[in-house]
Amino acid sequence: MGKPNDTQDYDKLLRSLYRAIIFLSSFIVVLATGLIYYGLMGNPFSQSREATAAAVKREMPVADLPSADERIADGIHLATGLRVAEGFEVVRATCTGCHSGKLIAQNRATRDGWQEMIRWMQRTQGLWELGKNEADILDYLAANYAPVEIGRRANLDVEAIEWYILGE
Ligand code: HEC
Repeated sequence: MGKPNDTQDYDKLLRSLYRAIIFLSSFIVVLATGLIYYGLMGNPFSQSREATAAAVKREMPVADLPSADERIADGIHLATGLRVAEGFEVVRATCTGCHSGKLIAQNRATRDGWQEMIRWMQRTQGLWELGKNEADILDYLAANYAPVEIGRRANLDVEAIEWYILGE
Protein backbone atom coordinates (compact mmCIF):
# COMPACT_ATOMS: atom_id res chain seq x y z
CA MET A 1 0.00 0.00 0.00
CA GLY A 2 1.83 3.16 -1.27
CA LYS A 3 0.99 6.69 -0.49
CA PRO A 4 -0.77 7.51 -3.82
CA ASN A 5 -3.20 4.65 -3.24
CA ASP A 6 -4.12 5.97 0.16
CA THR A 7 -5.06 9.32 -1.37
CA GLN A 8 -7.15 7.61 -4.09
CA ASP A 9 -9.03 5.56 -1.54
CA TYR A 10 -9.65 8.66 0.51
CA ASP A 11 -10.96 10.54 -2.58
CA LYS A 12 -13.25 7.62 -3.41
CA LEU A 13 -14.59 7.52 0.10
CA LEU A 14 -15.19 11.27 0.09
CA ARG A 15 -17.02 11.10 -3.25
CA SER A 16 -19.38 8.34 -2.15
CA LEU A 17 -19.99 10.28 1.03
CA TYR A 18 -20.99 13.36 -1.03
CA ARG A 19 -23.25 11.21 -3.19
CA ALA A 20 -24.93 9.81 -0.11
CA ILE A 21 -25.46 13.29 1.30
CA ILE A 22 -26.90 14.60 -2.00
CA PHE A 23 -29.18 11.57 -2.29
CA LEU A 24 -30.40 11.93 1.28
CA SER A 25 -30.98 15.68 1.07
CA SER A 26 -33.01 15.40 -2.15
CA PHE A 27 -35.06 12.74 -0.41
CA ILE A 28 -35.61 15.11 2.53
CA VAL A 29 -36.59 17.96 0.19
CA VAL A 30 -39.23 15.79 -1.48
CA LEU A 31 -40.54 14.62 1.88
CA ALA A 32 -40.65 18.16 3.28
CA THR A 33 -42.46 19.46 0.19
CA GLY A 34 -45.04 16.73 0.63
CA LEU A 35 -45.52 17.51 4.31
CA ILE A 36 -45.86 21.26 3.67
CA TYR A 37 -48.41 20.62 0.92
CA TYR A 38 -50.33 18.27 3.22
CA GLY A 39 -50.22 20.87 6.01
CA LEU A 40 -51.42 23.71 3.81
CA MET A 41 -53.88 21.98 1.48
CA GLY A 42 -55.05 18.97 3.47
CA ASN A 43 -54.88 15.36 2.38
CA PRO A 44 -54.78 15.39 -1.43
CA PHE A 45 -55.98 11.77 -1.56
CA SER A 46 -59.23 12.26 0.26
CA GLN A 47 -62.22 13.94 -1.43
CA SER A 48 -62.95 17.43 -0.21
CA ARG A 49 -66.06 17.96 1.90
CA GLU A 50 -67.67 19.94 -0.91
CA ALA A 51 -66.98 17.23 -3.47
CA THR A 52 -68.47 14.60 -1.16
CA ALA A 53 -71.56 16.74 -0.53
CA ALA A 54 -71.95 17.32 -4.27
CA ALA A 55 -71.70 13.58 -4.94
CA VAL A 56 -74.32 12.81 -2.30
CA LYS A 57 -76.56 15.51 -3.73
CA ARG A 58 -76.29 14.04 -7.21
CA GLU A 59 -77.31 10.61 -5.96
CA MET A 60 -80.36 11.79 -4.04
CA PRO A 61 -83.44 12.18 -6.22
CA VAL A 62 -85.24 14.10 -3.51
CA ALA A 63 -84.84 17.83 -3.96
CA ASP A 64 -85.33 18.74 -0.34
CA LEU A 65 -81.81 19.10 1.05
CA PRO A 66 -80.89 21.66 3.71
CA SER A 67 -79.27 23.75 0.97
CA ALA A 68 -82.38 23.49 -1.20
CA ASP A 69 -84.12 26.45 -2.73
CA GLU A 70 -86.05 28.12 0.09
CA ARG A 71 -87.99 30.52 -2.11
CA ILE A 72 -91.73 30.73 -1.75
CA ALA A 73 -94.02 31.71 -4.61
CA ASP A 74 -97.78 32.13 -4.25
CA GLY A 75 -97.58 30.47 -0.85
CA ILE A 76 -95.87 27.40 -2.31
CA HIS A 77 -92.45 26.39 -1.03
CA LEU A 78 -90.66 25.82 -4.33
CA ALA A 79 -88.25 23.08 -3.29
CA THR A 80 -90.93 20.79 -1.84
CA GLY A 81 -93.99 21.99 -3.73
CA LEU A 82 -95.85 22.16 -0.41
CA ARG A 83 -98.07 25.01 0.71
CA VAL A 84 -96.51 27.08 3.47
CA ALA A 85 -99.03 27.06 6.31
CA GLU A 86 -99.30 25.92 9.89
CA GLY A 87 -97.72 22.47 10.12
CA PHE A 88 -95.59 22.91 7.02
CA GLU A 89 -92.30 22.36 8.84
CA VAL A 90 -93.33 19.10 10.48
CA VAL A 91 -94.79 17.80 7.23
CA ARG A 92 -91.66 18.80 5.39
CA ALA A 93 -89.47 17.07 7.95
CA THR A 94 -91.62 13.92 8.09
CA CYS A 95 -92.90 13.49 4.59
CA THR A 96 -90.26 14.53 2.09
CA GLY A 97 -87.56 12.01 2.96
CA CYS A 98 -88.79 9.16 0.76
CA HIS A 99 -90.54 11.02 -2.03
CA SER A 100 -91.03 14.54 -3.23
CA GLY A 101 -93.51 16.80 -1.48
CA LYS A 102 -95.03 17.24 -4.93
CA LEU A 103 -96.47 13.74 -4.63
CA ILE A 104 -98.33 14.99 -1.56
CA ALA A 105 -99.45 18.24 -3.20
CA GLN A 106 -100.92 16.31 -6.13
CA ASN A 107 -103.27 14.43 -3.83
CA ARG A 108 -106.55 15.49 -2.25
CA ALA A 109 -108.32 13.78 0.61
CA THR A 110 -110.27 14.32 3.76
CA ARG A 111 -108.56 14.00 7.13
CA ASP A 112 -109.65 10.35 7.25
CA GLY A 113 -108.44 9.84 3.72
CA TRP A 114 -105.04 11.24 4.61
CA GLN A 115 -104.88 9.08 7.69
CA GLU A 116 -105.64 6.06 5.51
CA MET A 117 -102.74 6.99 3.18
CA ILE A 118 -100.42 7.30 6.16
CA ARG A 119 -101.58 3.91 7.47
CA TRP A 120 -100.98 2.44 4.03
CA MET A 121 -97.41 3.78 3.97
CA GLN A 122 -96.90 2.49 7.50
CA ARG A 123 -98.18 -0.96 6.53
CA THR A 124 -96.38 -1.29 3.23
CA GLN A 125 -93.71 1.38 2.73
CA GLY A 126 -91.82 1.47 5.99
CA LEU A 127 -93.23 4.73 7.27
CA TRP A 128 -92.67 4.90 11.01
CA GLU A 129 -95.13 5.75 13.79
CA LEU A 130 -95.68 9.50 13.74
CA GLY A 131 -96.56 9.81 17.41
CA LYS A 132 -97.78 13.18 18.60
CA ASN A 133 -96.88 14.74 15.24
CA GLU A 134 -99.59 12.78 13.46
CA ALA A 135 -102.40 15.12 14.53
CA ASP A 136 -100.49 18.20 13.33
CA ILE A 137 -99.65 16.49 10.05
CA LEU A 138 -103.27 15.46 9.48
CA ASP A 139 -104.49 18.96 10.32
CA TYR A 140 -102.12 20.43 7.76
CA LEU A 141 -103.03 17.91 5.07
CA ALA A 142 -106.78 18.19 5.66
CA ALA A 143 -106.62 21.98 5.62
CA ASN A 144 -104.40 22.40 2.58
CA TYR A 145 -105.09 19.35 0.48
CA ALA A 146 -108.78 18.77 1.00
CA PRO A 147 -110.93 17.35 -1.78
CA VAL A 148 -111.57 20.05 -4.36
CA GLU A 149 -115.24 20.99 -4.50
CA ILE A 150 -114.95 23.67 -7.14
CA GLY A 151 -115.29 22.53 -10.70
CA ARG A 152 -117.00 19.26 -9.95
CA ARG A 153 -120.26 18.47 -11.66
CA ALA A 154 -123.43 19.31 -9.77
CA ASN A 155 -124.78 16.62 -7.50
CA LEU A 156 -127.21 14.25 -9.17
CA ASP A 157 -130.81 15.22 -8.75
CA VAL A 158 -131.97 11.87 -7.43
CA GLU A 159 -135.69 12.70 -7.84
CA ALA A 160 -135.31 13.45 -11.53
CA ILE A 161 -133.57 10.26 -12.49
CA GLU A 162 -135.42 7.41 -14.00
CA TRP A 163 -133.79 4.38 -12.47
CA TYR A 164 -133.76 1.11 -14.29
CA ILE A 165 -132.38 -2.31 -13.47
CA LEU A 166 -129.36 -3.40 -15.45
CA GLY A 167 -129.90 -6.32 -17.78
CA GLU A 168 -133.66 -5.83 -18.27
C1 HEC B 1 -90.65 5.71 4.67
C2 HEC B 1 -90.83 6.38 3.40
C3 HEC B 1 -92.02 7.33 3.28
C4 HEC B 1 -92.30 8.40 4.08
C5 HEC B 1 -91.50 8.96 5.23
C6 HEC B 1 -93.52 8.96 3.56
N1 HEC B 1 -93.93 8.26 2.48
FE1 HEC B 1 -95.49 8.72 1.30
N2 HEC B 1 -95.05 7.15 0.10
C7 HEC B 1 -93.98 6.31 0.24
C8 HEC B 1 -93.89 5.43 -0.90
C9 HEC B 1 -92.83 4.38 -1.14
C10 HEC B 1 -94.97 5.77 -1.74
C11 HEC B 1 -95.32 5.19 -3.08
C12 HEC B 1 -94.57 6.05 -4.08
C13 HEC B 1 -94.91 5.71 -5.47
O1 HEC B 1 -95.93 5.06 -5.71
O2 HEC B 1 -94.14 6.14 -6.34
C14 HEC B 1 -95.66 6.86 -1.08
C15 HEC B 1 -96.78 7.49 -1.63
C16 HEC B 1 -97.38 8.59 -1.07
C17 HEC B 1 -98.51 9.26 -1.66
C18 HEC B 1 -99.21 8.88 -2.95
C19 HEC B 1 -100.27 7.89 -2.62
C20 HEC B 1 -101.04 7.49 -3.82
O3 HEC B 1 -102.11 6.94 -3.62
O4 HEC B 1 -100.56 7.71 -4.94
C21 HEC B 1 -98.86 10.28 -0.84
C22 HEC B 1 -99.96 11.27 -1.00
C23 HEC B 1 -97.92 10.24 0.27
N3 HEC B 1 -97.02 9.21 0.08
C24 HEC B 1 -97.95 11.12 1.32
C25 HEC B 1 -97.04 11.09 2.36
C26 HEC B 1 -97.17 11.91 3.54
C27 HEC B 1 -98.26 12.92 3.81
C28 HEC B 1 -96.11 11.61 4.32
C29 HEC B 1 -95.80 12.17 5.68
C30 HEC B 1 -96.70 11.81 6.75
C31 HEC B 1 -95.33 10.59 3.65
N4 HEC B 1 -95.94 10.29 2.48
C32 HEC B 1 -94.16 10.04 4.13
C33 HEC B 1 -93.09 6.31 1.28
C34 HEC B 1 -93.03 7.25 2.27
